[in-house]
Amino acid sequence: MTCFESNPHLLKSGLNTTIEDIKTFLRFLAESGCRGFECSEESLNRIEAWGRKAVTFSETLEAIRMDLGDCQRCRLSKTRKNIVFGAGDPNARLMFVGEGPGYDEDQLGEPFVGAAGGLLTKIIEAIKYTRQQVYICNIIKCRPPGNRNPMDDEIAACVPFLKRQIASVKPDMICALGTFAAQTLLETKIPISKLRGCFHDYTGIKVLPTYHPAYLLRNPEKKREVWEDMKMLMKALNLDGAAK
Ligand code: URA
Repeated sequence: MTCFESNPHLLKSGLNTTIEDIKTFLRFLAESGCRGFECSEESLNRIEAWGRKAVTFSETLEAIRMDLGDCQRCRLSKTRKNIVFGAGDPNARLMFVGEGPGYDEDQLGEPFVGAAGGLLTKIIEAIKYTRQQVYICNIIKCRPPGNRNPMDDEIAACVPFLKRQIASVKPDMICALGTFAAQTLLETKIPISKLRGCFHDYTGIKVLPTYHPAYLLRNPEKKREVWEDMKMLMKALNLDGAAK
């Protein structure tokens, strides 16, 4: 075992120093007139984000899923068919958080696989990602009967697992889909129409609320606003035509 492995704080400070050194060196090269590399603030911020991913220690998604087990923490366990934990890249830069599973998701145990899921897939592809490159999950992991809204105590029982998933994935950004996702993550009752269109903060992670795809299926005229939100997301992720 190396001294870094036995002392995570040493590893963290060592990596932080290395990342700062890389940034300083890149700035030095740029200021000295060297050409042929990219040294914008956006790129330096991205290097910073690598550091954030590398230097914080967290439990794995598998460990969180194991802890959730055959969850009986709320009444939804009595009526669900499957727990819908989440899917996608465990190291994703971008995480989508929805409300809760519907019929199709409950049948398959996968998030966003029904009609709203089809639209979410199109949204993800429009911003040059694939479903496999992002992480997708929900505020609650079990389907409410008849797709009713989740109750406060159901959210309270489930949200600690979502928070652990976020701490494990450490995304650079979260797109909160719809009222329940946005209001729960941001601990507010402000309506989604007022929350969307700008970034908010959740434990240092940028959160962009937008309308839920199911709402878009009923109100297609709102797609324009979601596209505006997605353009903000792409800019913030520094996506210039290809997913990174
Ligand atoms: N709606 C959600 O909020 N989540 C899903 O997984 C499916 C539909």
